[in-house]
Amino acid sequence: MSQLFRRKSVISGKMGLKKCLGAFDLTLLGVGAIIGTGIFVLTGVAAATQAGPAVVLSFIVAGIACAFAALAYSELSASVGGCGSAYGYSYAAFGELIAWIIGWDLILEYGVAVAAVANGWSGYFNNALTAIGLGLPEALTKGPFAGDETHAGGIVNLPAVIIILMLMGLLIVGVKESARINAGMVFVKLLTIVVFLSVAIFHVNPDNWTPFMPFGWFDHTADGKTVGVLAGASLVFFAYVGFDAVSTAVEEAKDPQKDVPIGILASLIFCTLIYIVVSGFLTGIVPYTELNVSSPVAFALQKIGVNWASALVATGVITGLTTVMLVLYYGLTRIITAIAQDGLLPPFFGKVNEKTQTPVRTTVMCGVVMAIMAGFIPLGALAELVNVGTLAAFVLVCGGVIVMRRIHPDMPRPFKMPGGIILPVLGVLSCGALIAFLPFITHLRFLMWLALGLAIYFAYSYRHSHLAKSS
Ligand code: ALA
Repeated sequence: MSQLFRRKSVISGKMGLKKCLGAFDLTLLGVGAIIGTGIFVLTGVAAATQAGPAVVLSFIVAGIACAFAALAYSELSASVGGCGSAYGYSYAAFGELIAWIIGWDLILEYGVAVAAVANGWSGYFNNALTAIGLGLPEALTKGPFAGDETHAGGIVNLPAVIIILMLMGLLIVGVKESARINAGMVFVKLLTIVVFLSVAIFHVNPDNWTPFMPFGWFDHTADGKTVGVLAGASLVFFAYVGFDAVSTAVEEAKDPQKDVPIGILASLIFCTLIYIVVSGFLTGIVPYTELNVSSPVAFALQKIGVNWASALVATGVITGLTTVMLVLYYGLTRIITAIAQDGLLPPFFGKVNEKTQTPVRTTVMCGVVMAIMAGFIPLGALAELVNVGTLAAFVLVCGGVIVMRRIHPDMPRPFKMPGGIILPVLGVLSCGALIAFLPFITHLRFLMWLALGLAIYFAYSYRHSHLAKSS
């Protein structure tokens, strides 16, 4: 029994990755991963079906839960380190079994998020092609499985497959190159938001903000759906997924103890402000009831008659979604590498290529699996799982801060969450509450994924763990 909870002491940089990222690179990495489908697509869905104009409050609620988690990530990344992110911290705080569970959970979060965003990317991309008369046949823009009206009933979602394979090539070439391209795309994404805001500001009609909270705080509809500001918060939480990816870059940061907390907190604060302003303007320029469409931001601009801005914003969104996929894909490969280097997955997955100094095999393998998922599985089924996986990781990271303070009270902590254990406890409670607001089917799917993970742990990882061997 005690073997299941064997702990790793300190996790240090031995992965053989190149140290090349500064605080600014890391903040851009965060912004690259954060702003995407959440603000550009889900804001409209949440406003129309769950929160009304009070979707602004949903963003604030979800942002507060994320802020606790971000502080916890900052403390642990600066003191425990390790590019396995939450997986690495759990290994030190809770021991191997929980670490494996959280690592398995992060693989789900990142892998499924990339495939889901690729599906959204494909939709926007094909719209753009159609606008210039080059639209693909429908069978090549949708997967074959029924169950999702907009993303099923074809042969394969070809653009989604192709974009993932292109990103795979980029990540193999190297991290600095990827970070540079990421920076360029983040700039375009921010410019897109500036264009939207500067047009929208002249078209706000305050009448659109009444009623402000048509669905209240939390309620169940007759058909079993959840509505209200809090249900909206558990949906738009997706918009914040990704700031934790900064902590997976710890081994490639020049001065990780200082730069990683800056990267995490700066990107989260920046994106929260943007979300509040964008969602406020969006519900201010068109009635919230009209926003349940696949591209609400571009739609709203069209609706107020500014077509040039609508086309520009749609193009910017395509770029924006690319950065989200790039950073999450990057995080995924680093987590798998870290897990494999601890012996919990076969060594095949832990190898770093000497020439490119990147984990080529893992990058290729993940790329192929995610391309298949994105090509054949509908968006809805993919997207639902991401939030529950991420929130579970956040709960454990906040809990990890409390445990580490108890078992290693004297460990140097270059960054420390203020206020004793109050903030980590609030983090556990608020992220736990957001899990509770998600639909039951999502909980069930998540449990099935965890059961598969446990089977792998007991069949392979338990005996091959390097900690097991050394003890
Ligand atoms: N936060 C990312 C997005 O909204 C995953 O697309």
